[in-house]
Amino acid sequence: MELPWVVVMLLLSVSASAAATLAVTAPPPASPAPAPAAPAHAPPQAPLGAEGLLINGNFETAPRKTNKTLIVGRHSLPGWTLRGHVEYVSAGPQPGGMFFAVPHGVHALRLGGRSSASQNVSVRPGSLYALTFAATRTCAQDEALRISVSPSLSAPADVAVRTLYSADTGADTWAWGFRASAQLTQLSFSNPGVQEDPACGPLLDAVAIKELPTPYPTKENLIKNEGFEIGPQVFKNSTVGVLLPPKQKDATSPLPGWIIESLKAVRYIDAAHFSVPSGNYAVELVAGRESAIAQVIRTVPNRAYNVSFAVGDAKNGCHGSMLVEAFAGNVTLKVPFESAGKGGFKTASLRFVAGGVRTRVTFYSSYYHTKATDGVSLCGPVLDQVKIQPLKV
Ligand SMILES: *[C@@H]1O[C@H](CO)[C@@H](O)[C@H](O)[C@H]1NC(C)=O
Ligand SMILES: *[C@@H]1O[C@H](CO)[C@@H](O)[C@H](O)[C@H]1NC(C)=O
Ligand SMILES: *[C@@H]1O[C@H](CO)[C@@H](O)[C@H](O)[C@H]1NC(C)=O
Ligand SMILES: *[C@@H]1O[C@H](CO)[C@@H](O)[C@H](O)[C@H]1NC(C)=O
Ligand SMILES: *[C@@H]1O[C@H](CO)[C@@H](O)[C@H](O)[C@H]1NC(C)=O
Repeated sequence: MELPWVVVMLLLSVSASAAATLAVTAPPPASPAPAPAAPAHAPPQAPLGAEGLLINGNFETAPRKTNKTLIVGRHSLPGWTLRGHVEYVSAGPQPGGMFFAVPHGVHALRLGGRSSASQNVSVRPGSLYALTFAATRTCAQDEALRISVSPSLSAPADVAVRTLYSADTGADTWAWGFRASAQLTQLSFSNPGVQEDPACGPLLDAVAIKELPTPYPTKENLIKNEGFEIGPQVFKNSTVGVLLPPKQKDATSPLPGWIIESLKAVRYIDAAHFSVPSGNYAVELVAGRESAIAQVIRTVPNRAYNVSFAVGDAKNGCHGSMLVEAFAGNVTLKVPFESAGKGGFKTASLRFVAGGVRTRVTFYSSYYHTKATDGVSLCGPVLDQVKIQPLKV
């Protein structure tokens, strides 16, 4: 474990408040059937806003008391408990020459040094959840957003918001997964850093939660969640997809079944805003060799298997010669794809012989790409429809 895993935050007891607790439940986990689409919303009885937002999850209900932009009082912001220097900001130009891009609605929180915003939710112990949130850095320094879930088996994690992937919109949306261990769970977003300017810190905007079913392999396909149809909430109005941060384990990944490796994110994309080879979702390999997506499957030693998958482009202005490398056991396949940035895909397959009872299958983009329109926004080849079947001898 490298840097981002940090010491468990001490939870100081918060004085009781009248704040409501959000109930988040979804239909029970899917049975081992081929790729059921994830249930999109919690049942209607839950006091859940549009798109699974937390209570005041888009921060559009203003705090009761502020001093200029500084929020005064721990329980001043409806739905949230705050600690430290938290500002309530509006989209657009700011005093001092800064510009904040607030992607969802008009308002966001700016988390100053060591400050936090938390909310309690009611969840199903043992279930997997994905949080989706928009976050952007506001100062030149390294900025991270720390997510802690308490109680939980996962340590708090820092999502580095230093790299702006979607430079064209000025803001990124991220997802993070956790497995609930108790019904009443506290979600906390904090800024672990301290800068000279106490206001310095990431913007947090639009926080949603979604319960995810557990995917299973089938007789026809040993890959779980093969079409990436089970994944985090994608905001309907968001055109930037959802970034899945690195160092995600398959058991708690916001993309169930898949491991996100290495140093940078992959992007989860939806058919409403991108070209997707099949179904409603796919992943875009946006960080070249610095990010890979992998899955470990059960295999029978010395048996031969066929891996097939689709490679394409997201129709997001990402032009050029793309190359996806696939690894299974000791076999590698390089799949070139010429992108005109207009969508389209092709399929490829490789055969491998299993060396053991478990085999890791990994995909990454060999090249780095940026959008032709601005030369900065990260983009890359799309991966979808991953399938592994044993071959008859
Ligand atoms: C949230 O949960 C924590 C820990 O269970 C508790 O200490 C705190 O009082 C709760 N906060 C609210 C606003 O209910
Ligand atoms: C508002 O904040 C400023 C600067 O921190 C402080 O000097 C002032 O007393 C505050 N005003 C109120 C009404 O709390
Ligand atoms: C999506 O955008 C439309 C038009 O700008 C707006 O009316 C609507 O409230 C937005 N929905 C959400 C969930 O942000
Ligand atoms: C592997 O699977 C692909 C897609 O299903 C298929 O087109 C290809 O013929 C298969 N290869 C072998 C060797 O069976
Ligand atoms: C790959 O692994 C298989 C099974 O263990 C073995 O038979 C084969 O020789 C290996 N191939 C290479 C190129 O290492």
